[in-house]
Amino acid sequence: MLSYGPQGLRIDGIGASSLARRFGTPLYVYSKRTLLERLWTLRSAFRARPPLVCYAVKANSSRAVLRALAEEGAGADIVSGGELLRALAAGFPASRIVFSGVGKTADELEMAVRRGVLTVNLESFEELAALEKVARRLETRAPVSVRLNPDVDPKTHPHVTTGRADNKFGVEAAEALAMCRRAGRSRWLTLKGLQCHIGSQITTLGPYRLAARAVARLARKLEGEGLRLELLDMGGGMGIRYDEETALDASPLARILTQELSCFPGARLLLEPGRSLVADAGVLLTRVLYRKQTSKRRFVIVDAAMNDLARPALYGAYHPVWPVEKRGGALKTVDIVGPVCESGDFLARQRRLPVPQEGDLLAVLKAGAYGFSMSSQYNSRPRAAEVMVEGGKARLVRRRETFKDLVCAELP
Ligand code: LLP
Repeated sequence: MLSYGPQGLRIDGIGASSLARRFGTPLYVYSKRTLLERLWTLRSAFRARPPLVCYAVKANSSRAVLRALAEEGAGADIVSGGELLRALAAGFPASRIVFSGVGKTADELEMAVRRGVLTVNLESFEELAALEKVARRLETRAPVSVRLNPDVDPKTHPHVTTGRADNKFGVEAAEALAMCRRAGRSRWLTLKGLQCHIGSQITTLGPYRLAARAVARLARKLEGEGLRLELLDMGGGMGIRYDEETALDASPLARILTQELSCFPGARLLLEPGRSLVADAGVLLTRVLYRKQTSKRRFVIVDAAMNDLARPALYGAYHPVWPVEKRGGALKTVDIVGPVCESGDFLARQRRLPVPQEGDLLAVLKAGAYGFSMSSQYNSRPRAAEVMVEGGKARLVRRRETFKDLVCAELP
């Protein structure tokens, strides 16, 4: 929860400027309360058909975030062996972990089967065969779901659209049917269910209804053939409000999914939200280094860059930027840019702000999702530190990287 006090911006009651002094900048700050509130809100909207909420670890894989969600009984949606180990280390039981992704390697599939994940979401016939081989070698049965590509346009940014026939994700209905039949017959696979994730930052309900209908249509066919489904996973993608868009409201979404999937009361509903749980819980604090003006633009150069928060550079994404200390003075139009040597390195463009002074702090909001988890060391910039605010206290949950961290994997 953000508020302004006499010392400026506060995060759950703790002054952002004192956090920046104590831990340095750039600094990611997370509110545990906001994070858990998002989970509770989602669950309460779906109380008519309680889902297993499998948090999409890629949105923010910091251990403190994972642990908080694991302790609340959430599951995890993972897409790599690394995410599997992170999720297990943070306390998610394997029985609440689902494994998604188009390109899982044989080693990753083996790890998942050995640890006993709830299901592996298969995205191609060849992957099915690869998993069957792994299971045969381990002399066990692997639990599988098939990811349906329903050819639905989620009406979001093309880079995060996944449910259309021209996307690499999932398989079309006929192929899904064939894969389910094959899994149903296999000695080494157990067919658990269907999965469908059509995209990210979706702000309208229509695409979800179409996707759920496609899942129901396929499920009906399968049940007609005697293939019973235990899991129906409708993925994540629930949009939040960054700028002018309206956040997707969980209550009508719950109504739609419950209605469309009502023919399968015995199947457990799974959801894979990432952004909608963590985005609002995170703020990126950054300090103003310099200002300058060209004949065309007024630049505010800060110490966070595209390596810390890639979303603006990658997708032209909008993140609100607030001054930590409220400053008077006329509003000016500024570009907030980082030190990285690319013109694509910006955090915000053409914003109306009272011009910040050297040394001022700015807060980049809604940075909890796909912020730190997409950060890199580009330009040999050590990654930022992360702090979790909980119960009126701030705790460093990841130290700032050092020069040593930049070179530690290199050989002489
Ligand atoms: N399930 C699967 C299979 C996914 O691929 C994703 C996200 C999710 C769940 C969670 O989606 P969410 O609820 O967070 O929308 N880096 C981009 C977003 C990429 C999303 C990738 N897949 C961004 O910063 O906007």
